[in-house]
Amino acid sequence: MVYVTRNIPKAVEILQGFCDLTVHNKAKAPSKQEIIREIRDKDALLCVLSDKIDSEVIASAGNLKVISSYSVGYDHIDIDAATKHGIYVAYTPEVLTETTADLAFALMLTVARRVVEADRFVRRGKWKDVGLYDFMLGTDLHSKTLGIIGMGRIGSALARRANGFKMKVLYHNRNRLSIDKEREVNAEYKELDDLLKESDFVSIHVSLGKDTYHLMNEQKFRLMKSNAYLVNTSRGQVVDERALVKALRKKWIAGAALDVFEKEPIQKDNPLLRFDNVVLVPHIGSASRETRERMAEVAAINLLNVLKGKKPLYAVNPEVRKQ
Ligand code: GLV
Repeated sequence: MVYVTRNIPKAVEILQGFCDLTVHNKAKAPSKQEIIREIRDKDALLCVLSDKIDSEVIASAGNLKVISSYSVGYDHIDIDAATKHGIYVAYTPEVLTETTADLAFALMLTVARRVVEADRFVRRGKWKDVGLYDFMLGTDLHSKTLGIIGMGRIGSALARRANGFKMKVLYHNRNRLSIDKEREVNAEYKELDDLLKESDFVSIHVSLGKDTYHLMNEQKFRLMKSNAYLVNTSRGQVVDERALVKALRKKWIAGAALDVFEKEPIQKDNPLLRFDNVVLVPHIGSASRETRERMAEVAAINLLNVLKGKKPLYAVNPEVRKQ
């Protein structure tokens, strides 16, 4: 028996041929109590990143064998608790790499060339007599320096795009890449502080954990160039938003383009909403039709594999098998 916390058509289509499914079919997300109630007797759970699967939820499910998340991030799941209970946690990396890198690149271009601001200007009927020479001037992207924090799959895919735009690419990563891999992505390793001092664009691609929570704090923003932009498509909590707002107010940086926020959906009184030089999108990194369909397939196959006694295609805690 399987509980699915959202009606994700492709996943439901695949799963219903094989198992007894309960799908949460309402527009409003299920509450934690609803999830607890639903998974009490289930063998598998298919969830999304806004479902908080903490130790209390996990402890309430006596039969659960797998938590399959329709996401690459798994910071919403208590992995230690799942592992302790012998439950696989599965996720959907790889299939969304290029799509997420596309969005990070689009955000860089959008904020640098003031695309959203210009669109608002046209729609508001303000396009009348504009000075030719200093009107809506943005900044070039090509030939600038891009600093990538987190050179995993998505960071590397962004580096390849930046190479095509003749950008100089710097990167910081927990572990330095091999020389061959550095050559392949044409990127130079830097200590984080040096990367921040030298980059015109800084794009974050780390996962959220204890060591990356508020990685971008006030001290880090102070290191950035005043003409530099921050792009975040990873997790909101990697950036201390109060420090970001301060950096924007004090003009320590030139702007930001954000797909993720400390609190999602963004709150109405979030000061970031008031800056023209900030581009905001609602956590759509992997949101292309093709990629979402592939994520649904992977999430369903991950889950079915475990029910058939096999490993998920992508397990966060593969050590569960040996328990
Ligand atoms: C998106 O943020 C994901 O984790 O898939």
